[in-house]
Amino acid sequence: MRFNRQICWGLFLVAAYGLLLGVSAFADSDSTVKEKPALQPEPGSPGDTLTREDARMALLVYKLLDKDGKIKGANITRGKELFYQNCRPCHGSDGKRFNFAPYYEPPAFIGQRAREEMPTFWYQMNFGDKERSMAAYIDELELQDLIDIAGFAQTLP
Ligand code: HEC
Repeated sequence: MRFNRQICWGLFLVAAYGLLLGVSAFADSDSTVKEKPALQPEPGSPGDTLTREDARMALLVYKLLDKDGKIKGANITRGKELFYQNCRPCHGSDGKRFNFAPYYEPPAFIGQRAREEMPTFWYQMNFGDKERSMAAYIDELELQDLIDIAGFAQTLP
């Protein structure tokens, strides 16, 4: 009788110990999920000092332009569709409706700007120019759409 009771207690303790180990292993596995270091400052935090304009322009310079000033990663076919939908009404199918340098030779059309002065083009397309009635597209189109349009615009005359 006495012997049996000891065995019972023994078994009970072993089981309880096992349970404890199990639980602590489970807890451990949870605590191994480490937080990843933040790659970018939180928007609005003290480290986040770039304005929206700066950030968009930095993206162009560091990520989108190749060494010849060509836009990387643009889908030209899609860019053409988007240009036709969004820009053609004012700029014309060939982008030649507005001459940005009316008093100079040679004239400057959207294609020339896109090829030779992509930062100007990119800024104007993203942020517009109220004084000249050019709309801002940063909140109208996705980033990839703007990249596609920029790539297509470089193929315009
Ligand atoms: C509602 C008419 C309108 C639409 C739509 C429009 N633009 Fe413009 N855009 C203008 C006007 C007006 C100007 C200024 C023309 C001038 O100063 O001679 C301009 C200027 C620009 C310039 C400035 C070029 C420079 O070097 O000064 C760029 C780049 C440009 N547009 C790109 C685009 C793109 C890309 C789209 C389509 C996503 C677009 N625009 C849609 C009216 C429009």
